[in-house]
Parts: sequence; structure tokens; C-alpha cells
Amino acid sequence: MDFLTQHVIPPTAQHMSLLEFLAVVTYAIHLPYIAMVMGSTAMAMWLTFSDSEIPNPRFARLAGDLIETVLGNRFAMLVLGVMPLFVLPFIYGQWFVGAQLAPIKYIVLAIPGVLVGLVVLALYKNSFAERKTHFQMHMGLGTLGLGILMVSYFVLMSAVGRLHDPEKWFRLTNLAIVLLNWNVIWKFLFFVHLAFALTGALILFFLLRWSRERTIGDAEYTAFVRKFGAGVGLAFCFALPVFFLFYVFTSPDVVFDNTNYLLATAVVVVSMLIAFAFFGALRSREPRFGATTFSLFVLVFVLAGSFDVRAMANANREHARIIEQAAEKEVMEREVALETAMAEASGKNLGEETFTKVCMQCHRFDEKLVGPPLSTVLTKYNHESLKAYILSPTKVDPAYPPMPNPGLTPAQADAVAAYELAHLAGAASGDTTSAATQTTPAEPAAPKH
Ligand code: HEC
Repeated sequence: MDFLTQHVIPPTAQHMSLLEFLAVVTYAIHLPYIAMVMGSTAMAMWLTFSDSEIPNPRFARLAGDLIETVLGNRFAMLVLGVMPLFVLPFIYGQWFVGAQLAPIKYIVLAIPGVLVGLVVLALYKNSFAERKTHFQMHMGLGTLGLGILMVSYFVLMSAVGRLHDPEKWFRLTNLAIVLLNWNVIWKFLFFVHLAFALTGALILFFLLRWSRERTIGDAEYTAFVRKFGAGVGLAFCFALPVFFLFYVFTSPDVVFDNTNYLLATAVVVVSMLIAFAFFGALRSREPRFGATTFSLFVLVFVLAGSFDVRAMANANREHARIIEQAAEKEVMEREVALETAMAEASGKNLGEETFTKVCMQCHRFDEKLVGPPLSTVLTKYNHESLKAYILSPTKVDPAYPPMPNPGLTPAQADAVAAYELAHLAGAASGDTTSAATQTTPAEPAAPKH
């Protein structure tokens, strides 16, 4: 993924939340479209097959209408099917910048698969007119396109799902390990059922409402379409809450927070509402509930997508903190470098300058003043701990008053800690010139320069 690491910069916390939003939007427009493509292709193939066994003009007509509605619109295919795909690697690349995780690679690998699948399905749609003469080829194209799409989304979903499990990240070294786990199987089953149920809603909404000219004026066909759509939708609705709950319960603990429990509950509740709406559509004599069910489905996609994105963000929390710390550290280092450079430019070393100006009010190296002789206390410290003590002194020795916080910047503390420890090391190795400098008692703040 050198390509990604080169083009992706570490995001700040605000960028991360923005990316979360972008991911939900991307999923909410892309996945329903793909679900409709899968569902209606499978259903059209089934209708075409049944029509070829026992000729049934209504089946053939519905198959044609379905394919035309979903695959006939090239613009929708481009905007809803293809374009969002290219956003995904960048979103995940930013979230997991520097992590070098195998799943990200598989997210990228799934993209060409989806594209090929969509192209094959476009060919399948074009061959619909010759389905009688070239039956094998027509069905073959449908099966191939559908198969490629299914496999690609299975890979995509498992790769994304694996990102929810940071404890196992280091083990994700080959595709089989990435793919084979129950969590993704439940999620995929949920998605496939969602695809068929959504196609039921699509039939109700698009064929009976949106493009009414296809069905208007033919009461018999309208009734058939209504029954077929509501029946298929209802049949595939029942399993939705079950699969989703299995998916939720097989997710690793780290993905959960209160928001996620709420989102999961909402998915289950809305799925049940959809079943009621389909039931209503089946019972009513009029073509009704199409728009309602269809909007409820979009809601399910938004909720389930938010669940996933939230899960990912929760699982990624630790890595995100590392990214943030790296960014902060970089800022600090730049500050230190700047102050050192400024001090050097003014002919002084920042550490020595701070020491003579501030610390020497109370400290000498070998003598007790207000504070203890530094040569006796410094031995306990290394650079980091000394810096931490200087930035916020604590009460240590009852023989002394507490040391007030000298109010240094991190850069000053850094420099003075380095200066003192270097001085101590110099004194220990018998470097008398530097040791002698500060041991001269006399007036404080008497720089030797
Ligand atoms: C206003 C006086 C004062 C100033 C200024 C001051 N110190 Fe101190 N320092 C003390 C006193 C008093 C103690 C003893 C505190 C104690 O033991 O609780 C002390 C203790 C220490 C200790 C020993 C802590 C220990 O673990 O025993 C270190 C190290 C130290 N100071 C470093 C510094 C450095 C570096 C500076 C300059 C940035 C500085 N001090 C500035 C008063 C001062």
C-alpha cells in the first residue's frame, strides 16, 4: 500500500470524525444500489428461468421491467455503483495510516471485482432481448456477474469487519484468515437478505409508483407485481433482525459503546417495521406502502452503516491516539528546535540560559541553597523523568520547603534537563571545567560567558 501511504497524511481528531461521516454517506448511497442490483438480477434470472420452463408472460414482463429499472440506468450505475468505491480506500487509508494492515489491501482488491461484476451485468441486461435464442449465454452472464459481485462484497465486508478486531490485527497475514470468521458470514447473510427484501420494496415503489407507465392500465399485471413484490419482501424480512443480531453478538467487545447498542436496536426495530409495511402492502388492494418501505430500507442502510463505522472508530481508538500523539510530538519537537535555534542565534544555549536565570536562584550543583545540591538529587533522574519533575515539581524531601513550579515551557524544560544531566555526567567523569563552572557559589545568575 505504498501508494496509499504516499498520498495520505495523518488526520487530526476532527478529520477523523469528518471521515466517519463521509464513510456513512458513502455506504448509505452505495450499498442500497448494489443490494438492488444483486436482488433484482437474481430475481429476474429466477423469473426468466420459470418462464422458460412453463411460459408465463407476466414473469417475463416483470423480469424485463426489473432489469430495465435497475441496470438500465448507466448514470445511476456510475454515480451510485462505481464512484463511491474509489472513496473507500482513501477513507480507510486515512484512518489506519501507518498501520500497514492487510485488510486495507483487500478493500482495494475488491474494487476491480465490483467493476468487472457490474460490466458483466450490463452485458447480461443487453442480452435480455435474445434470451429465447441464446438462453445459456444470457443466464451464464447473469450468473457470472452476480457471482463476481457476491465474492467481491464478501471480501470487502470481511476486510472491513476485520478492522473491528484490533487484537487480531497482527495475525491477518493471509486471505483465508481474513475471510473465514462467523462475524462476516452473519453480516453477509444479513446483506443478502436485505438485498432481496429491498428488491421487493423496489418493485412496489418503482414499478407501481415512480415509473407508473410500466404498470398503469393493466390491472392484472399491477396486482401480480404488488403481490410478488410484497410477498418477496415479506419473506426475506423476517430473517433480517436475526442475522443482524448474530452479527452484533459475534462482534468483538471493543466495538461497543452506548451509541452502538442504540444503533443495533434501531436496526432491529426498523427491520420489524418494514415487515409490517410489507404485510400492509400485501393485504391492501391498492398499490400502497411502496414509498414507506423503500425509505425505511434506506434508513436501515444508514443505521447499519453507522453501526459499522462507529464500530470501526471504537476499535481504532488506540491507533487513533497514537496518530494524534505522533502529531503532537512533532509539534513539540518543532517548538524545541525553534527555541534552541533562537537561543543559539542570541549566542546562548537554551539549557544553560534557563539554568542560570531560573534554577540558580535556588540551586547549585554541589551546595545546598534553598533547594538541595543538584549533584545529590539528579542521579535519580533520566531525561524524561527530570523534565516531568521540572514541569510539575512534587514534594520530596521533608528537610526542604516544596519547590515552586518554575513555569517553564516544555522546550525550556527539555533543554534545561539535558543541560543538567550533561553537566552531571561531565562532573562524574572528572570534567572539571564544566563542573567548576556552576560550583562557584557567589552571586546567582553569573553566567561565565
Ligand atoms: C524557588 C526556588 C527553586 C527554584 C527556582 C528551583 N528549585 Fe528545584 N527545588 C527547590 C526546593 C526547595 C527543592 C526541594 C523540594 C523537595 O524536596 O520537596 C527542590 C528540588 C529540586 C530537585 C530534586 C527533587 C528530588 O527528587 O529530590 C530537582 C531535580 C530540582 N529541584 C530541579 C530544579 C530545576 C531544574 C530548576 C530550574 C528549572 C529548579 N529546580 C528551580 C527549589 C527551587
